Amino acid sequence: MRLGASPVLRGVDLTVRRGEVVALLGANGSGKSTLVRTLVGVLPPSAGDVRLLGRPLGDGVPWGRVGYVPQRVSAAAGVPSTAEEVVASGLLHGRRLRLPRGWRARVREALDQVGLADRAHRPTHQLSGGQQQRVLIARALVRRPEVLVLDEPVAGVDRPSQEAFAATMTRLVGDGMTVLVVLHELGELAPLVQRCVVLRHGRVVHDGAPPHPRPGHEDSDHEHVHPHAHSRTLQRAEDVRLADGPFEARLDARDDSAEDEGAR
Ligand SMILES: Nc1ncnc2c1ncn2[C@@H]1O[C@H](COP(=O)(O)OP(=O)(O)OP(=O)(O)O)[C@@H](O)[C@H]1O
Ligand SMILES: [Mg+2]
Repeated sequence: MRLGASPVLRGVDLTVRRGEVVALLGANGSGKSTLVRTLVGVLPPSAGDVRLLGRPLGDGVPWGRVGYVPQRVSAAAGVPSTAEEVVASGLLHGRRLRLPRGWRARVREALDQVGLADRAHRPTHQLSGGQQQRVLIARALVRRPEVLVLDEPVAGVDRPSQEAFAATMTRLVGDGMTVLVVLHELGELAPLVQRCVVLRHGRVVHDGAPPHPRPGHEDSDHEHVHPHAHSRTLQRAEDVRLADGPFEARLDARDDSAEDEGAR
């Protein structure tokens, strides 16, 4: 996976199985957003193969069954939209250019799930950063997706809203939703996360059970993943290939061997 001059992701081979909740972790710049953006078709892979819900990326993917929450961008630009409009846009996808019957009630329900029902008619630029982030979550949830990809959904979101988000996610996962979520720490979602994938310099360096916080590491400041502390650190990308699932990504830049030193 190449962006600009150098490869961002190398030898990533990842399959998420139906019903799994997978956290994608790694330092700033390790390639987390690039991986999820490639997976949802926002970025074209320069090499490799991506399948979503069993279909190669493209028109064949049932996009209406996929929800995506992008990593927050700092400032909103362009025409002001109300929270209701932004969430309603989550009901438009592919060839569907008209809102479905009953959209207002669905939008209201999604805003309610993130605790913003009373802000439906506010222009989003008048909402706080954390509230804007919750509007993006509602836009993904309004589809009632089978698979949900979230890029740091709770960055900048206060603790009560994180708890409310975790409760909503718990219910949706209980109903069978598959989740791939980029996080810096597991936080409130820790009880839900069954598997952690850690990227470093665009490679998968850990894929396995979430580490348990160890004595002295229980503080909320200290919920980092310690990949070295776990026996399942990967030797080869092939180790993570699993049976077919809703998400599969095999992204590779074959010409990367000389560029390792420049990867940081
Ligand atoms: N459009 C682009 N063109 C060239 N390089 C890019 C582009 N977008 C991202 N990169 C580079 O790709 C690398 C990975 O970026 P990415 O946004 O995927 O990291 P991340 O793991 O999501 O980081 P963060 O934790 O800060 O969100 C970075 O080195 C970044 O500079
Ligand atoms: Mg990112």
